[in-house]
Amino acid sequence: MAKILDGKKLALEIQQRLKSEIDQGLIKAGRAPGLAVIRVGNDPASGVYVSNKTRACEKIGVKSFSIQLDEKSSTEEIISKITDLNDDLRIDGILVQLPLPSHINSSKILKSILPTKDADGLHAYNLGSLLKGEPGPRSCTPAGIMALLASSNIELDGTRAVVVGRSILVGKPMGLMLQAANSTVTVAHSHTKDLSKLTNEADVLVVAAGKPQMIGKEHVSENTVVIDVGIHRIPQEKALVNGSLYSLCGDVRTEEVFSKARAITPVPGGVGPMTVSMLLVNTVFRWQDHCGLPFTLADLLP
Ligand code: GUN
Repeated sequence: MAKILDGKKLALEIQQRLKSEIDQGLIKAGRAPGLAVIRVGNDPASGVYVSNKTRACEKIGVKSFSIQLDEKSSTEEIISKITDLNDDLRIDGILVQLPLPSHINSSKILKSILPTKDADGLHAYNLGSLLKGEPGPRSCTPAGIMALLASSNIELDGTRAVVVGRSILVGKPMGLMLQAANSTVTVAHSHTKDLSKLTNEADVLVVAAGKPQMIGKEHVSENTVVIDVGIHRIPQEKALVNGSLYSLCGDVRTEEVFSKARAITPVPGGVGPMTVSMLLVNTVFRWQDHCGLPFTLADLLP
């Protein structure tokens, strides 16, 4: 039976720690940390993510600024809003919820955020810092996974890791963070041949492919630690599940893999809550910098 890696529990512990850092720094800083969250359009899944993020802010004493823009907003209009937020001294972090509508130039949008206010660690400058091993805000999902592995005492030095998925949000930065921890990393993707042969050799398998339940017991060995980044809503045709017409699943067939692998993250309650907590870590880290406070969170920024 696999060990369950409880992201929800660790995420709450990190939030407690952040709350106490904020309480301690508040008088010297003269203001609370501020996070601006921009949502463009009405994608319901993005709506859920954004409200999770703003609720977590309120709980720990981060002031959140929710900005809802019209689906038809132009790239220039969004950049103009970001420029105002760059100049706003109450704001330490800016996040643009992805994906953006297809007519928007996402790359230009992410580049318009001041690198020192990049709560998501997705600005080209900050991704460059990660590549070079220099400090800076880190992409939230992979940073959250690194924190979860560390707190579960999963040693990475000398291991073989396979990351399935090469997105800029997860797969690419994940590969760099694992490599920085001295793992030997392969990044697989939709054109990779004989995936199960590759993944069977992995000590750590991170699945961020965006394909519901694509990884099963044939992909893992008894030594594999499986990190499931996927989260999908599956319609329930017959009955209500937990009062809902949908149930959630990841990119992994959890029950199958649970009976075979060394450890696994659940969906929900694994990677998702860690992403939110790392967003808060990036924001509080930027606040400490903007307000001349000592940095106290370096151990959480891989
Ligand atoms: N959409 C899904 N996950 C994320 C995330 O971590 N950051 C942003 N900005 N958008 C997302």
